[in-house]
Amino acid sequence: MNTTPQAAGPDAAAADSVADSLGTSAAQARSAVLEELIRKDPGRFRMLTGDRPTGRLHLGHYFGTLHNRVRLQDLGVETYVIIADYQVLTDRDVADNLTGHVEDLVLDYLAIGVDPRRSTIFTHSAVPALNQLMLPFLSLVSVAELNRNPTVKDEIAHSRQSAVSGLMFTYPVHQAADILFCKGNLVPVGQDQLPHLEVTRTIARRFNDRYGNGTPVFPQPDALLSHAPLLLGTDGTKMSKSRRNAITLAADADETARLLKGARTDSERHITYDPAHRPEVSSLLLLAALCQNRRPEEVAEEIGAAGAAALKKTVTEAVNEYLAPIRARRSEYARDRAFLQRTLREGNERARAVADATLAEVRAAMNSHY
Ligand code: TRP
Repeated sequence: MNTTPQAAGPDAAAADSVADSLGTSAAQARSAVLEELIRKDPGRFRMLTGDRPTGRLHLGHYFGTLHNRVRLQDLGVETYVIIADYQVLTDRDVADNLTGHVEDLVLDYLAIGVDPRRSTIFTHSAVPALNQLMLPFLSLVSVAELNRNPTVKDEIAHSRQSAVSGLMFTYPVHQAADILFCKGNLVPVGQDQLPHLEVTRTIARRFNDRYGNGTPVFPQPDALLSHAPLLLGTDGTKMSKSRRNAITLAADADETARLLKGARTDSERHITYDPAHRPEVSSLLLLAALCQNRRPEEVAEEIGAAGAAALKKTVTEAVNEYLAPIRARRSEYARDRAFLQRTLREGNERARAVADATLAEVRAAMNSHY
């Protein structure tokens, strides 16, 4: 078995793009199998997922991943939610108000139903042993491999920094430490994160091959792709905080109404669900449908000739009704700062205990247990 990092050959780029398309469909097929296994035996899984603290979470996050996390937690999967407050340092704009962003994330998590009695919410900066895993992990990947990671390339292209930092470059290795410190074996992610997960799997495999002595130390975690389709923001492009086109979970009913009133539609009066040709209208229909747990075609039929104004009214009511209990819980938690701080403190303590145990195992495997 090969345990040394491979340099990129001349065909690396071509091979990557083939692997990419195969990777996505393979991950989709695997995700269907995983769903079945989770239903049968949730106890064999440990889920690790999380976010960079860049501000309040929005409906795109919610229907893309957050909703799914709570579903898995409620199915009985042991859950770790990481607030990636070191990774976020690659994003200059947010470093100023880090505490505020972290607290916003905790509030959003609690509001949507992440239960701190069952799930561990933590920040990776508070878990030294997690970060220490990065050193042996870095020794298991080559610079060439990091260099051709498409997600890193993309993040570098979108970062507004003048130079690429070492932290940005080693991001997928840090993410491997985030996942493997608790031996997470299930990572619900969007498609864009698949290359990162591949790095984690590679690192786990190489570590086991090199140091495992026949007993693997780490699992090779699986990606669980969500099937939620992409929600567009109010300007018709991907919903994203930095594009100012997002409806946050924390927004109130009036702000939601105002944002949706200004949402882009098209000039055709009759409302139909046609994602390929009418992306903006279709995304609004989808949003209403997700909130009302029905099909977007059904919402479209109901509105029909009533046009865009009626569509926006329907979506606004659907969103506000769906989010009302989440928003109520959020403001309740926001008033209880002591609880908020305790949640994070206890989550960090639990994560530290788990990370210490894993690091001890790693040092034993590496013969550096002095
Ligand atoms: N990189 C992820 C993002 O940008 C956040 C993240 C950090 C993460 N560590 C993780 C996600 C581990 C899944 C698993 O959204």
